[in-house]
Amino acid sequence: MSQSLVIAIDGPSGSGKSTTARMLAGELHLAYLDTGAMYRAVAWEYLRTGGVADDTEAVVQLTRDADIRISTHPDAPLVRINGQDVTSAIREPQVSASVSLVATNTDVRRILTKRMRETIAAHNHRIVVEGRDITTVVAPDADVRILLVADPAARVARRAAELGEQVDPGSVTDQVIRRDRDDSTVSNFTDATEGVVVIDSTFQPPAQVVEQILRLVETLPGNP
Ligand code: DC
Repeated sequence: MSQSLVIAIDGPSGSGKSTTARMLAGELHLAYLDTGAMYRAVAWEYLRTGGVADDTEAVVQLTRDADIRISTHPDAPLVRINGQDVTSAIREPQVSASVSLVATNTDVRRILTKRMRETIAAHNHRIVVEGRDITTVVAPDADVRILLVADPAARVARRAAELGEQVDPGSVTDQVIRRDRDDSTVSNFTDATEGVVVIDSTFQPPAQVVEQILRLVETLPGNP
């Protein structure tokens, strides 16, 4: 069996995590796990069932019971929750606006963290995992740990470009800046802990970031 290779990438919204992580997984023939999609799927299901903001017990129960299926192929995203294909729906503004409610619940985080670790193990520890607390909580023993950062203006501009022209600038800023502020109350994705390499993507295209990470992989023990 091949040597394990877990690459953990954390960073705020719009830092380029997903693009970088997918490209890297493709390049190295590794599986890919978008952990934000798991939080988004729970938020989608919670909204669908008419959940209200302060019913924490309901959201925890829903997470415990949720059958979440997530594709780990870097080129074929597919997210299902309780039999529903929510691959596109979880990117809708309503989900982006309410996902922090789910992601700041510590019981929900504990449940989803366990499932993330199970997914990593199911892939024989050959996987690129991206999120907010992968380098610190989910896989602090990952072989390569990256904190991807970028200036707020660049992050808002990237998210706006992803969402298209019709989007309200205030809502994009809310999705990026306010959400990161809320999320940072439960995970630290702005300061790198020991052993985590910080890469600033403000002026670098994803391919260049991927190159830097590939160079780090080459320096790992066991590599020629
Ligand atoms: O990366 P994203 O925008 O798809 O993440 C969705 C939400 O989930 C966002 O509010 C941050 C949160 N999240 C988290 O708290 N921990 C993770 N490991 C991944 C995402």
